[in-house]
Amino acid sequence: MEDWSDCLDVAVQIARRAGQVVQSAVKQEKQVSSKSTPTDLVTEADHQVEELIISTLREKYPSHRFIGEESSAAGVKCELTDAPTWIIDPIDGTCNFVHSFPMVAVSIGFAVRKELELGVIYHCFDGTLYTARKGHGAFCNGVRLQVSKEKDVSKALILTEIGAKRDPATLDIFLGNMKKMLSAPTHGVRIIGSSTLALCHIASGAAEAYYQYGLHCWDIAAAAVIIREAGGCVIDTTGGPLDLMSRRVVAAGTREIADYVVKQLQPINYGRDDTD
Ligand code: IPD
Repeated sequence: MEDWSDCLDVAVQIARRAGQVVQSAVKQEKQVSSKSTPTDLVTEADHQVEELIISTLREKYPSHRFIGEESSAAGVKCELTDAPTWIIDPIDGTCNFVHSFPMVAVSIGFAVRKELELGVIYHCFDGTLYTARKGHGAFCNGVRLQVSKEKDVSKALILTEIGAKRDPATLDIFLGNMKKMLSAPTHGVRIIGSSTLALCHIASGAAEAYYQYGLHCWDIAAAAVIIREAGGCVIDTTGGPLDLMSRRVVAAGTREIADYVVKQLQPINYGRDDTD
């Protein structure tokens, strides 16, 4: 039985290298364009970094498969099979990257037989490295991570992200969901502009719950392993098991808080990663 520890070591090296490329690209002029909506941004750097990550991994693991944000946007089928598959977001927080707002990450997840096995997330501005391998714990710069054990939602800090759709009907549901979270009452709601780093804050216990409609499998894959290995839960917005391709998630330190969040949410339909 493979333990994939070599894959974790390789992913860490590549995430650091990719993160350095992102760091230097932040200081340069950016070529910005949009993808699915005017607020779904992409830059030259997103493409370069994804190419760097995939070509390096492919050379090392020629039989493995790849799902990458920019390859998918370019029309490569986003399909999770039983084969060992790397799931990559080269620059998570592209809008932040465009503005030099310091919440930008490289995210590399890895699944085998559709099970998430490892995750690496590198914070490009401060060099923080989050890592986890299934069954072996989650770490931040080598220090073990532990989620918050808080069960009382009135003492919870909740994180979310907006997603790319900004039509009035979507915004009404988004704001309605946020109003429910604020009026629980919770301690507060935060939006930092990077799904992967927000999810890392759940893993580290800095916040109690995260929910979002409209994120992608490459935003969830690595973070899901990191949160689970830190003792938290990552589930579907209906309360059932996580469906990586469903473009929706609830993550929390405790099942009690996750269940509370699930009960409040009105769904936003973003379709699926594997059918769009
Ligand atoms: C996006 C960011 C954003 C979230 C989106 C993600 P990207 O990733 O994490 O905060 O709202 O759902 O797709 O496009 O910057 O890689």
